[in-house]
Amino acid sequence: MKKREIVIVRYGHREVRDYRVTGHCALVSRAFGADKMIVCGEKDESLLGTVKGVNERWGGKFKIEFAGTWLSVVKELKRKGFTIVHLTMYGLPVQEVDCELGKKKKIAIIIGSQKVERAVYENADFNVGVTNQPHSEIAALAVFLDRVQGGAELSKDFSGAKRQIIPQERGKKVLNF
Ligand SMILES: C[S@@+](CC[C@H](N)C(=O)[O-])C[C@H]1O[C@@H](n2cnc3c(N)ncnc32)[C@H](O)[C@@H]1O
Repeated sequence: MKKREIVIVRYGHREVRDYRVTGHCALVSRAFGADKMIVCGEKDESLLGTVKGVNERWGGKFKIEFAGTWLSVVKELKRKGFTIVHLTMYGLPVQEVDCELGKKKKIAIIIGSQKVERAVYENADFNVGVTNQPHSEIAALAVFLDRVQGGAELSKDFSGAKRQIIPQERGKKVLNF
């Protein structure tokens, strides 16, 4: 069966100011089964270094890329057959659309940082809310990725890891390869 492709589109990134939150978005995207995050904003070498280091230690092939304008990124993803989902508190409740979106083989998920312009809502195939309360792109991303993959990402295998955690009831056990 063809593997599902999941791409995260980070709308806006200001170097230094957004480093921590964009970094956490990348870590959540990677851990929760996405393949790539495209950051539409300032090119931030430290983010590239963080993701590279995590991949080297913990495995997998998660990628981070930088792009100038979100609209050209979205147009290209549409051309490649991706369904575009914009996460926003104003959108349709995730619990009403997760079954339909879970069937899509290619999903691109837009998450904001600063205020998102109206054209994002108009260009998205789906505007989806994880609750209709204001919170965070990190939380919205984690819940959405879990819902569309039906929990399958929780047991994802990260190939090529130098470290592997052996889950313990108490304490830490890590294998080093
Ligand atoms: C911290 S919010 C910033 C919102 C910004 N102040 C605005 O007015 O658009 C950043 C991002 O988190 C995501 N987000 C926040 N609450 C959400 C919710 N309830 N459902 C889905 N996404 C949400 C959206 O992608 C949003 O662009």
